[in-house]
Amino acid sequence: MSDERKPLMYLVIGATAHFGRQTVEELVATNAPVRALTRTPERAMLPDVVDVVHGDLTKPETLPAVLAGVEAAVLVLQYGMDVAPLLAAAKAAGVRRLVFLSSGAVVPQTERQPNVIAQYHRDVERAIESSGMEWTFLRLLFPAINSLTFGMQLEGGDVIRAPYTDAAFSAVHERDVAAVAARILTGGGHGGKGYDLTGPESLTQAQQVQILGRTLGRPLTIEDLDPAPVLEQMSQFMDREFLTALFGLMAKAVGKPAPVNDLVEQITGRPARTYAEWTEDHRADFAG
Ligand SMILES: NC(=O)c1ccc[n+]([C@@H]2O[C@H](COP(=O)([O-])OP(=O)(O)OC[C@H]3O[C@@H](n4cnc5c(N)ncnc54)[C@H](OP(=O)(O)O)[C@@H]3O)[C@@H](O)[C@H]2O)c1
Repeated sequence: MSDERKPLMYLVIGATAHFGRQTVEELVATNAPVRALTRTPERAMLPDVVDVVHGDLTKPETLPAVLAGVEAAVLVLQYGMDVAPLLAAAKAAGVRRLVFLSSGAVVPQTERQPNVIAQYHRDVERAIESSGMEWTFLRLLFPAINSLTFGMQLEGGDVIRAPYTDAAFSAVHERDVAAVAARILTGGGHGGKGYDLTGPESLTQAQQVQILGRTLGRPLTIEDLDPAPVLEQMSQFMDREFLTALFGLMAKAVGKPAPVNDLVEQITGRPARTYAEWTEDHRADFAG
């Protein structure tokens, strides 16, 4: 019998969106063999060294080929998607470790969650816990990438209008999330842990806009909107229950600083990036 060992393969699911793409890049930077799952490989625009494979989480028959030879996977799941077919296929393929990008809305140790966002993510977590794979959950609340929504308004002038402008977030940079995910994926050692990843500082939305303005060299201001009509308007094109949960989380973040921890530094050895660094990294996204 040959004792030749195949190189370990690391899989990123959700590889073409913000968190997954950065995770792929982190893994590539460490020369780890990376596979990316996408429904449209021809549009993935990932580095050449990445094994970009067609797969669709709603089509279980596509999954065995994607999962063959995979040691560990990072899962970025679009909200509301059923995780069961993936878990069954991953178990059958012998995947040992799964890192799931979850939500900071989750209240650990509680089965009945306070809102639909928390409930969806907790249900996925529970399914993963029951899968027999080693798991780690990275829970995020209002990550910095959400500020891209400011960009749409900046095309029309220097005023951003939003509800809950005094809500405070400790916004984590997606590159830090990716660095944590890649470190756990390749190094292991964090099985059975749920980590609330934060940035290094608590900032209100109004303070975030000030920082963004400094980076862009524009005199940005923020105007507070009554949440109720905004929710009503957004409900025309987004799920009302999801929005109600989101607005509830923002309301809870008003009037007190957001919790900050040093988990990013503990796991990656590098301090979490500031919000100002995030705005520098995304300057082009606000260029209009
Ligand atoms: N932003 C937040 O406030 C926040 C906070 C906490 C947690 N999160 C977590 O982050 C997730 C969002 O991450 P994101 O913005 O990077 O991604 P996203 O925009 O929600 O999802 C897009 C990704 O999902 C993939 N995808 C969609 N349908 C698929 C299918 N049927 N089969 C396979 N892949 C599919 C897409 O791949 P292709 O199009 O290439 O196939 C793409 O890579 C949330 O759902 C949540 O779980 C977000």
